This record gives sequence, C-alpha cells and structure tokens, in this order.
Amino acid sequence: MINMSKGTNERLAIHGGVPVVDSSKAKFEWPRITDQVQLAVKNQLLDTISIYDNSNIFGEFEKRFARYHNRKYAQLSNSGTSSIFAMYEAINVLPGDEILCPVYTFHATVSPMMYLGATPVFCDSDDDGNIAFDDIKRKITNKTKAIVVTHMWGRPVRDILEISKLCKDRGIYLLEDCSHSHGAKIYGKRTGSFGDIAAWSLQGQKTVTGGEGGILATDNKNLYDRALLQGHYNKRPKIELSDNSALKKFSLTGMGLKLRAHPLAIAIANEQFNHLEEFIETRQKYAEMLNRALLEYDFLDLPDTNSAKNSWYAYCIKYKGDDRHGVAKRRFVEALTKEGLIEIDIPGSTGLLNNLPLFCHPDQILPRMYGKDLRKQDGFPAAQRFTDQLIKMPVWSFNDEEWIIDKYIAGFRKVCNYIQQNNGGLLRGN
Ligand SMILES: Cc1ncc(COP(=O)(O)O)c(C=O)c1O
Repeated sequence: MINMSKGTNERLAIHGGVPVVDSSKAKFEWPRITDQVQLAVKNQLLDTISIYDNSNIFGEFEKRFARYHNRKYAQLSNSGTSSIFAMYEAINVLPGDEILCPVYTFHATVSPMMYLGATPVFCDSDDDGNIAFDDIKRKITNKTKAIVVTHMWGRPVRDILEISKLCKDRGIYLLEDCSHSHGAKIYGKRTGSFGDIAAWSLQGQKTVTGGEGGILATDNKNLYDRALLQGHYNKRPKIELSDNSALKKFSLTGMGLKLRAHPLAIAIANEQFNHLEEFIETRQKYAEMLNRALLEYDFLDLPDTNSAKNSWYAYCIKYKGDDRHGVAKRRFVEALTKEGLIEIDIPGSTGLLNNLPLFCHPDQILPRMYGKDLRKQDGFPAAQRFTDQLIKMPVWSFNDEEWIIDKYIAGFRKVCNYIQQNNGGLLRGN
C-alpha cells in the first residue's frame, strides 16, 4: 500500500499529478541582460569593436581581473579553451611530456595539450570530484612536466596547498583551470592564485561571462610572453614584450595564431564582473537553503557549504537512492523534472576522459604528434562513483529569484518524501 500521508498525499506529476511549478517560469536564465549590460555593450559598440593591443576594455578588464586575483598579469582570449591552450604553450610543453590531470573534468582542461603532443596522465578524484592528491603522488614521474587541476563545479581543490608544495619541490608547473570557480576561495586565497598560471572560461554559462571568451593570469612575465605570442600578434607583443626578450623578434607574427577576444564580449564580462561577489553571496544563501531543506533525506549526500568559499557554478548532490530505495538516479531526475524542476541535470559532456578517442587514439587524428596510440588508462573508482551519483543544478544568483528556490525545495520534498515513505514506491526500478 502506497503511503500518501505527511504532505505527500499529492500524486507525483510523473504519476499524473499536478506539477509543483510551471517549468516555463522557473528557469535558469543566464546571464541576465540588465540595463547595465545593454549600456556597456552600446558604449563599447560606439567606441570600438576591434582592439589590437591591451588598451580600452581589454586593458580595463585584464587589470581588474589580475588585481582581484592578486596576480601581476592577465591576458584575454576568445575562449577558455584558447586560454588553456596558451597556458600549455606558455610552459613550452614538448612531445612526450607527461602532464598529470584530472580524469573527471570537462575535456577542454586537457584536450589543448594534445596539439602539443603531450601525454595526459589521468588521476582519480577525491570525494568532491576534484583531482586526488593520493593518485597524483602515485603517478608523478621524472617525465612529469606539470600538474593541472580543475576546481570542479566551483568547489576549490581541497589539497591545493599540498599539490602546490609538491610542484615546487619537484620543480614542475602547477596549472589551474578555474572555468567553474570564478571568485571561489580556499585557505584565504582565490582559486587562480595558487598555480604558475590559471585559466578561466568566460563562456555563456559561466559566472562571469561575455558569451564567449577566456582569460589567463600569472605572475611570471616569461610565461605571459609565450602565452601572448601564441594567440596574439603585432601590436600587443610589440608593446608588451620587453626589448631584451629573445622572443621580441616574433612580435609581428606571434606563433601563427590569432585567438583574441571580441570587445563586445569583454564589455559584457566586465559589467558582470562588477557583480561577482553579489552573485556568489546569493548563490551561497540559496545553497544553504537547499541544504537545510534536504538534510533529512539520507539518500542525498549534500555539498559542504562551510569549509571553503564555493562559487556554486553548480549545486551538486550525490544521489544514493538506488541503493537505499531501489530508485535509479535517472528515474529520480525524471520525477523531479516532471514536477517542473527542469534545471536538474545529469551532466552529459562532463565526465571521465580516459576513454575518449582523442586521449586513447591521438595517432588517428594528430599523426604528426603521435606515432602510436596511447596506453589505455583505467582504474578510477572514485571518479566513476562521483559521476554515477552526481545530480546537479545551477544556483540562481538574484534575490528576486528566491521563489524559484522555494519551488525547487517543494519539488524535491514532494518526490523525496514519496520515495522515503514508500521505499521507492512506483519509482522503483529503472
Ligand atoms: C572546466 C572547463 N574547462 C574549460 C572549458 C572551456 O571553455 P570554453 O567553452 O570557453 O572554451 C569549460 C567550458 O565549459 C569548462 O567547463
């Protein structure tokens, strides 16, 4: 007999009941195109839409971004992928160099190094889904040139200080992909200020976004110069490389690519950046509301809201309802979605990278760099578990969106109460 008591007497929407919220209204719309954003774009449009050097909106944004991260230099590009590519070029990755990287991340943390013939050595995850220090220690060799970390979903890498010390002790580079972690902090420092270089995506969904764009930051002028020549030519290198740099003579051409940003994108990002701290504060408030409301469900493992400043690119739940109540994750998400909670997501394009063709068979697509396929890498139980359990949702960023959080809480409660009180009920199975 299915128990319908204790506020669960409404039929679930997946069983024909009335959804908790109209999904066409409770959406995550990002970025919000405010009057200020429109004005910033209009002003930029009337000023200039192509900037050859580090003046104008590029200079303004780069200076602010560097200062915010307590870094000497920042350098814009047209995408996070380009900035990550520049980061690898900056450290002069050579064919065969090994780079330790998270097995669980978005592919672009790793994929640009393939252009340079590097060998990615994948490391397992900790229970936040971030690169695991234990596995780094197991996999580091004399061929390791660098370690790259991603602060996944906005949660800073817990072992970043140990990783940083290891890199210093071994004389290798630490690189950070901060594409999820704009404004996040741990041990009193912002993500992006631990490594030799850090890169951020400014793509449409990111907390500071220009629609498309990327930026890197470093304190090291030599690394900065190489990165600059990788995606910029003529004016910028001519102005910025010092006269005694051995690379100065390449200023006119750079390394052959032009990957510079669009001024309108950076005008948007610059305006968004004004509000980063407010966005994070509001997200933190909503994450805490969600945690308080969902704490009672023992099959939901909730994110930690205390031990570091998360930027809440996503609110991540580890779902354990299949073991506890026989309800598959996919089925749980389907029930929530039917209640109108359409932003609940099982990530598709972010997952384990070790079996992707680019990382196993680069010889078939980049034969100039790889004479044969790469050794197959397996055995990432923690990353697999994290992926299998993960459910995520965006975190709303404006105070006038609190009603959406209330609806999401109501939707979660409706489905979770049903599962808890009926030991899965009709949702059991696949
Ligand atoms: C962790 C991570 N790294 C890199 C990127 C690539 O950034 P972009 O899309 O700006 O090239 C993304 C994009 O989603 C990302 O999530």
